[in-house]
Amino acid sequence: MGDAVARLLTEVDSMAMITTVQQHILQQQQELLKSTGREASGTFSWLLSGITLATKMIEAKIRSAGLSDVLGAVGVENVQGEQQQKLDVYANQAMLHCLGLRDSVAALVSEEDEEPVTFNRDAETGKYILVFDPLDGSSNIDVNVNVGTIFSVLRRMPAELGTLEESILQPGFRQVAAGYVVYGPSTVLVYTTGNGVHGFTLDPKIGAFVLSNERMQMPEQGIYYSVNEANAAGWPEGYRSYVTMLREGGLGKTYSSRYIGSLVADFHRTLLKGGVFLYPPTEKQSKGKLRLLYEANPLAFIAEQGGGVATNGAERILEIRPTGIHQRTPFCVGGRREMEALQSALTGVLTA
Ligand code: F6P
Repeated sequence: MGDAVARLLTEVDSMAMITTVQQHILQQQQELLKSTGREASGTFSWLLSGITLATKMIEAKIRSAGLSDVLGAVGVENVQGEQQQKLDVYANQAMLHCLGLRDSVAALVSEEDEEPVTFNRDAETGKYILVFDPLDGSSNIDVNVNVGTIFSVLRRMPAELGTLEESILQPGFRQVAAGYVVYGPSTVLVYTTGNGVHGFTLDPKIGAFVLSNERMQMPEQGIYYSVNEANAAGWPEGYRSYVTMLREGGLGKTYSSRYIGSLVADFHRTLLKGGVFLYPPTEKQSKGKLRLLYEANPLAFIAEQGGGVATNGAERILEIRPTGIHQRTPFCVGGRREMEALQSALTGVLTA
């Protein structure tokens, strides 16, 4: 099967045709086979096809949101104590529906559900855990501003090494894949399996995510900082002096500010244009606001694969040992230059 796929992919290349996300994953698996001799079973690409299907269903619903009765709140709070929007519920159901039937899934962990949804599959078959935020930034839906889906894939540990719950709480450096979809003027999917960051744009004419940015790299230094400055009075002093320093040209550029309030969209800009995104701890939320498992971890994995840095202000996000599935963390992510300066500011030595 390996040779046949390789021949087909070469033919596709020679005709200068598109590369879809599924083809890209197959190509990556071919590379893995060449470099390590490890044959991929195909279950992983089948799993990712469940994610792309669900996100296409979500995107279709969002595109026509103003025309159907899907805007607004359901009238109940979710596990986060936030008003659940109708589209949150739909997006969560789409993910559960498209992924629950995949044999390789051991557990689905969603921002919208208090407990993981687990499947009674033996560890050999159900070997992946999917953690996701089905619709991030959903307070922006009613005003037609970008929202997104974030996902992280973990491999289940063999039974002798830990329970399914312990597998869910593995640190971020153990992720086998992570990605997000941003529903903006166009719909873009970005993913990594630890071999670079790749971006795809949904071509509505053919209904497929088509490769548009291969091996994405975060610029070493950008010109934007992104933070909810309304919280500044409650931040630790280091963050306040850092943002002032960026504004006043301390890193050789006068930074401008951009804040959408949808993490996926703010992160996507930071990946493409560089700069820094911050959600610091505040007096009211001393552990920060964002979630470790399905917000910070996947985006930190992507940032690092793109040459950037992600910390909670003190340690690398990917090394934090999770203690709960909805655990919060401060989240700072950006280009090398800005992140080095942040580290200095937080340890009391402001660099210029
Ligand atoms: O976690 C949900 C979320 O909407 C993120 O997408 C976004 O970055 C953040 O919250 C915005 O929070 P705030 O409104 O406090 O700035």
